[in-house]
Amino acid sequence: MNDIRNIAFIGAGNMTQSIVGGMCKSGYPADKVWVSNPSDAKLEKMKSELGVNTSNDNLEVVNNADAIVLSVKPQLMAEVCAHLRENVHNLTDKLIITIAAGIRIPKYREYLGENIRIIRVMPNTPSLVGQGMSGLVTDDSVDEADKNFVTEAFNGVGETLWVSDEDQLDILGAVAGSGPAYFFEFMDSLAKAATELGFDAEKARAMVQQTCLGAAQMAKESELSLEDLRKQVTSKGGSTAKGVEAYQDSDLHGISEKAVKAAVNRNQEMAKLF
Ligand SMILES: NC(=O)c1ccc[n+]([C@@H]2O[C@H](COP(=O)([O-])OP(=O)(O)OC[C@H]3O[C@@H](n4cnc5c(N)ncnc54)[C@H](OP(=O)(O)O)[C@@H]3O)[C@@H](O)[C@H]2O)c1
Repeated sequence: MNDIRNIAFIGAGNMTQSIVGGMCKSGYPADKVWVSNPSDAKLEKMKSELGVNTSNDNLEVVNNADAIVLSVKPQLMAEVCAHLRENVHNLTDKLIITIAAGIRIPKYREYLGENIRIIRVMPNTPSLVGQGMSGLVTDDSVDEADKNFVTEAFNGVGETLWVSDEDQLDILGAVAGSGPAYFFEFMDSLAKAATELGFDAEKARAMVQQTCLGAAQMAKESELSLEDLRKQVTSKGGSTAKGVEAYQDSDLHGISEKAVKAAVNRNQEMAKLF
């Protein structure tokens, strides 16, 4: 990374551990990273494995930082932000990055002050294995340097995609955020179909997961559309054509459309809780 800032993570949970791990692996200096958490075990692990600065005091890490990543559960966000607002006098000088699901940017302005500089990021669970798909959104409160800084930080755990507004982030959440669950469901159904025909369960899983990975890799490396890639492995009258036909007869596209719309609606309902 070119832009090195003192960065504080509030909350040392799974997401923080993977993002900080990814940043350090990409060469970010550990002495510029601060992490706070109420209990000690996760902090000790991060300190010994990565060499980052740790504290039980959110204010200590925030006071040492130019950028703050809010990484607590959404239901704790109001309380954590109120504590910062009451005790940190130059919050507007710091870049605020939040990864909490469901809380929209205007709410953070209520929590932390009208003039904060803020970027909202929606990571997904494959970030835990360095293959995340993070969506990013902001309003006009940040500059290109802030955007580049956050893009590079999250590129450490996968890929990043900027979207134009928070409605788009709800769609990204319904596809990339919830998507791993859809793929697991689909993979499980394929593996079960094989075992029902008498295939060994462990081997079925190995076969399905590697096929999924291989298909994703081919999609990433190819310039063909997904439809053309599908056609490429589907010879007319062959066995794949028969399998694909079964999916199409069951309206796979319609099922996905229904799933994504249901998840978008739920994201919008949840945003109203905050
Ligand atoms: N996991 C995902 O795939 C995913 C995807 C998208 C977005 N997110 C968002 O990322 C955020 C973090 O998720 P996570 O999965 O990393 O959760 P997590 O593992 O539960 O981590 C949350 C951490 O916050 C700590 N904490 C609790 N109260 C605190 C306080 N007052 N000050 C500082 N830290 C405090 C907790 O400490 P103790 O355990 O000691 O209580 C815990 O270590 C959430 O807002 C979630 O919505 C997660």
